[in-house]
Amino acid sequence: MYKDRWNNSEFLIELSQIQFNPEDFLRFVDRYEFKHYINAYGKSTPQEVCYNRSLLVQPIVQHYLDVFKDFDIRLGQSDHPGGTGLNGWQLIRSDMTENGLARHIDAKRPACITFPLTFPQSINFHESKDSDILYTYEYKPVIIILNSGSKWHSVSQTAEPRLQFQFDCYNSWEEIKELTENLSLI
Ligand SMILES: [Fe+2]
Repeated sequence: MYKDRWNNSEFLIELSQIQFNPEDFLRFVDRYEFKHYINAYGKSTPQEVCYNRSLLVQPIVQHYLDVFKDFDIRLGQSDHPGGTGLNGWQLIRSDMTENGLARHIDAKRPACITFPLTFPQSINFHESKDSDILYTYEYKPVIIILNSGSKWHSVSQTAEPRLQFQFDCYNSWEEIKELTENLSLI
């Protein structure tokens, strides 16, 4: 019954048309230091981020900045009083061994262009703040855009390591749908 209410394209868009090999990121991840991520409400999360500027000169990051050049990706620290803040680009690593990520919508970014780097990893979607899991999406080696600013999501507790590269994206979901259609023409 839940399945009928799961409208995939309102929650996420898989960009299978764009080539992506997680190895291209994994080969340099170990060189970077991460810092604990505090959310916009000043709460600790089981996540660590790396905002190092030298990530931006990695050829693979440059490549994807070009692929997504028509998207509203804002590079540089954004205001996030009480928390770590957003950055525009990041490596993000999680240790969900003790705690998952509570359901939330992203406070400061409408969408997230997500490059999953470790597998298995998954994300849960909820219809509302109080609803159970509507759907659990299992990541594949495919770039996705997440409607993270409008759709409630969470991550279940897991012993699996979890690593992603992300761009923060400030387009509306309607704009993103249009922009991704144009991407398929590349
Ligand atoms: Fe989120």
